[in-house]
Order: sequence, then structure tokens, then C-alpha cells
Amino acid sequence: MYRLVFSLLIARVSAETVHHLTLRALRAVQAVPGAAALLRRVLARRDPALAVRALGLEFPSPLGLAAGFDKDAVAYDALGAFGFGHVEIGTVTGRPQPGNPKPRLFRLVPDRAVVNRMGFNNQGSEAAAERLRGRGPGTIVGVNIGKTKVVPEAEAAADYVASAERLAPYADYLVVNVSSPNTPGLRNLQAVEHLRPLLAAVREAADRVTARRVPLLVKIAPDLADADVDAVADLAVELGLDGVIATNTTIARDGLASAAALVKETGGLSGAPLKERSLEVLRRLRARAGDRLVLISVGGVENADDVWERIRAGATLVQGYTAMIYGGPLWAHRVQRDLSRRLRGSAFATLDEARR
Ligand code: FNR
Repeated sequence: MYRLVFSLLIARVSAETVHHLTLRALRAVQAVPGAAALLRRVLARRDPALAVRALGLEFPSPLGLAAGFDKDAVAYDALGAFGFGHVEIGTVTGRPQPGNPKPRLFRLVPDRAVVNRMGFNNQGSEAAAERLRGRGPGTIVGVNIGKTKVVPEAEAAADYVASAERLAPYADYLVVNVSSPNTPGLRNLQAVEHLRPLLAAVREAADRVTARRVPLLVKIAPDLADADVDAVADLAVELGLDGVIATNTTIARDGLASAAALVKETGGLSGAPLKERSLEVLRRLRARAGDRLVLISVGGVENADDVWERIRAGATLVQGYTAMIYGGPLWAHRVQRDLSRRLRGSAFATLDEARR
């Protein structure tokens, strides 16, 4: 049904317009008292065998919504009700900013992929903190922070720290995003000599503003060389970080079937073509860090088989975004249902057991 609606209607409207309308609808659901809770009862029925204990939290299922969809924390409860075990809001920057000029979001339908160069369009960390303040316990919310575009690279840490101070008190976990291809220079922060002081400063800021030890993770790009993936894993362990999120979108454009004009659009590629590299980075991180880090695997996850594969490769949690654009609002619900079946057909009683 969604596939039919997608090809007849949705594919004809600009991708950003669809995103905007979807968020408005979800926001409306969240605004009606009790609506999200009711939806949750219907759509997010939990199979206890899918529960994952990680980061000091009890995740009802391993599948979460990746950062970039609910940038301003307006619809996380409604999204949780649609079946996501957690929702990562953001990327939120220190100051509000409009992002790049439109168009900045492109569907590569034959590749089940998307190219985006949104450029962290968001209302800033003060506005996000205002929304998250006093939120209920319904949905696990991760908060992903990044650098304001106009802030020079040399002052990046202060911008992240400002966001961390505002948002750490309301975050179930905090993510330092240094891997978007759409903010000039951002990915340079992945180099260990820049990343070490940045992560240390964010850790300190979070600890300054709340007595609860907020879990801290770093999100990396799939375009890092293998040796750099290892270096980030080592650094994360050295600094006592809680985990790594791998991966963000890629600047690579190999083997795509879509029209050349779309393939050439500047930005980050997500969806099916990212699957192989994302899995490879996950395996590398797990081999390097052993069980000392929580690994959240993201990139090209389309169905329960993909989630299963990630968990068997050592992911503690898994996230998706692009597959929901193609699969529709019930995507998470379906994946969760199929994952439940997959687990019951396996030799393992729980997902924790299935993880290598
Ligand atoms: C993203 N992604 C992203 N990531 C991030 O850390 N901060 C962000 O603001 C965004 N924004 C964003 C916008 C859009 C339109 C897309 C499609 C993606 C990246 C996202 O969280 C994820 O890492 C990648 O999309 C790979 O996962 P999928 O989409 O292949 O499941």
C-alpha cells in the first residue's frame, strides 16, 4: 500500500516537502494528550526478548531512529510510538542556523538511497533544551550535537560545550557528531589530535551540569581509513567513552544506478549503498574494542535481516533512517515484528545472547 502511495504521490513531491509534512503530522500526534500513548499500545507492542540493556538504560528494542529526522526534538514521542526503541534527535548546534539553500535532499530511488546536504538546519541547542525539559519517560531520547557553521574550527569545542551544557540534563545519551559531510571542515575533527580535547571538553561539560553520568558517544564517517577507525576506537576506550555510532553518510558514489545528475549532487549518501561499508566499520570497531564500547550500527539497514546481521556482527543497538523514507511510517513496526520472528526461529533466547 505504502509502495503504491509512494510511487503515485510521494515520489512526485519534493523530498523535503514530504519530510516537512510528515513531521507536522507527527508533531500534531504528539500535541494531543494521550495520542502517542494510544498509538504506542497498538504499534509498539514489545516483545520482551528484544529488550536490550545498554548505556545504563533498558531499550525496548534494538532499533532506533537515526539523527537527522527529528532535528529539533518536536516529535520524538510520536516516533517512539511508531515502534522505534529510541530516537536520536539533532544534530543540534550551539546557535540556530538555516542550513544550506534548497534543494538539499534528493531521492535516488533505483538505489534505495538518498543524498542530503541539509547542513544542520536547526533551531539551536537552547530551543531543543526548552522542548526536552520536563519530557516524560515514554521514549529513550539520544541527543546528537554538532558545530555551528559560522563558528571557526579553532573554536569548535566551545560550541559543542555550549550545547552539551544545555542538553546533557535532558539526554538519555549524548552524541558528538564529527562526521557530517555538509559542514565545511567538520570531519577534520575526527583526527585524534582534535578529537581528544573535544571529547574531553564535552565529557567535562556534561558532568558539570548534571550529577547523573550521561553516556557519551562519538559518531563517525564511513569514509575514514581503516587505521583511523582503529584510532577512534582506541581513543574512545582511552577516554572512557561509552560507545561509537557508525556510520554517518558517505561522500563516495560507487556503483550507483540512478541518473547521473542525481548521483553528482553534493552531499552525504545514505541507504542501501552504505550497507557494506557500514557493516565493515562495525566489525572493525568490535574487533578493536572488544566489549569495552557500546556500538550503534547505522547505514543501509533496511529490514530485520539487516538488524540481525548487525547484532551478530557485534552491534548493541541499530539505527535506520533512509529505509523509513522508502518503507513508510510503519517501517519500524514491521522490522520489529520480523526481528521477533527471526529471534524465535534462531538458537538464541534473547538478542543479548545472539550478539557475538
Ligand atoms: C542524516 N544523517 C544525519 N546524521 C547526523 O548525525 N546528524 C544529522 O543531522 C543528520 N541528518 C541527516 C539528514 C538526512 C536527510 C539523512 C538521510 C541522514 C545521517 C543518518 O543519521 C545516518 O547516519 C545515515 O543516514 C545512514 O543511515 P541510513 O539512512 O542508511 O539508515
